Amino acid sequence: MSRKVIFDCDPGVDDCIALMAALASPDDFEVLGVSTVAGNVRLEVCTRNALALTALAGREDVAVYAGCPRPMVEPAIAARHIHGETGLGAAKLPDPERAASDIHAVDFIIEALRGAPAGSITLAPTGPLTNIAVALVKAPDIAKGVREIVLMGGARSEGGNITASAEFNIYADPHAARVVFQSGLPITAIGLDTTLQLRCTPARHEALKTLGNAAGEVAAQMIGHVNQVYGEIYGAEGAALHDPCVVAYLLAPKLFETAPAFIDVETRAGLTRGHTSVDVYGPAEDANASWATRLDAEKVFALLLERIGRL
Ligand code: RIB
Ligand code: CA
Repeated sequence: MSRKVIFDCDPGVDDCIALMAALASPDDFEVLGVSTVAGNVRLEVCTRNALALTALAGREDVAVYAGCPRPMVEPAIAARHIHGETGLGAAKLPDPERAASDIHAVDFIIEALRGAPAGSITLAPTGPLTNIAVALVKAPDIAKGVREIVLMGGARSEGGNITASAEFNIYADPHAARVVFQSGLPITAIGLDTTLQLRCTPARHEALKTLGNAAGEVAAQMIGHVNQVYGEIYGAEGAALHDPCVVAYLLAPKLFETAPAFIDVETRAGLTRGHTSVDVYGPAEDANASWATRLDAEKVFALLLERIGRL
């Protein structure tokens, strides 16, 4: 039976690749909607990219809802140095022929959850957690509709990527992240410790290029740009496929290892803003999340490639 899911994202190259795999899997996901949030690039660009990506995937049946244009407290930041000005790396997607819904993403998330059977909807955020947090603050009753939250965010042993001590999604809106981790909802957090294990190596990049469909070609163009940036910044051979890990986990959780953890977030300004304190050694009953510690990179990439190949 397919899982009802809302993808909340800031497309962004890796968000786009995650959406490709998700939208290619209608037997696994009943995608209730794609909501966008300011993150990698401005909200308007994220929304435009989400619309363009659903068109590329042949899934314009899936509505796109624009959400919060800035974090709850902090001013908006971006990651254009990684994703490029368009958020699509080196890829160009035709302008979408349809517009986003007039309904704000926060209101969409509230109404979807409010009307749902208890524990029936999965939230899959791959950007800053602003929309999710604002929905939970505005309408606490919606928590009953949530099956689980599987998010990309945080770092433990990997430190950080936007600063030495914080991962981008959490750093961008630390207050929202704290609201989510304090919500008491079932959360699986897939942070840099695990996502950095999934690199788009030259061989994997070639596999996308030669997939034989437009989606593979576009994914290769997107990630080609990020691979070059990763090489320049980190000297790494292959960018991390952060957000696709969320989709792969939802499709095949056995390809991941997790541990119960108590996760809290530094919201104060300064060196440790957005730092995730991930305590995997405390009493299991104190845990507020499952923290991903490992993935089977070969099998996860093969799964994502096969799904993108379906488009
Ligand atoms: O730190 C990686 C995360 O930040 C990914 O979700 C990427 O898209 C950016 O949003
Ligand atoms: Ca993202």
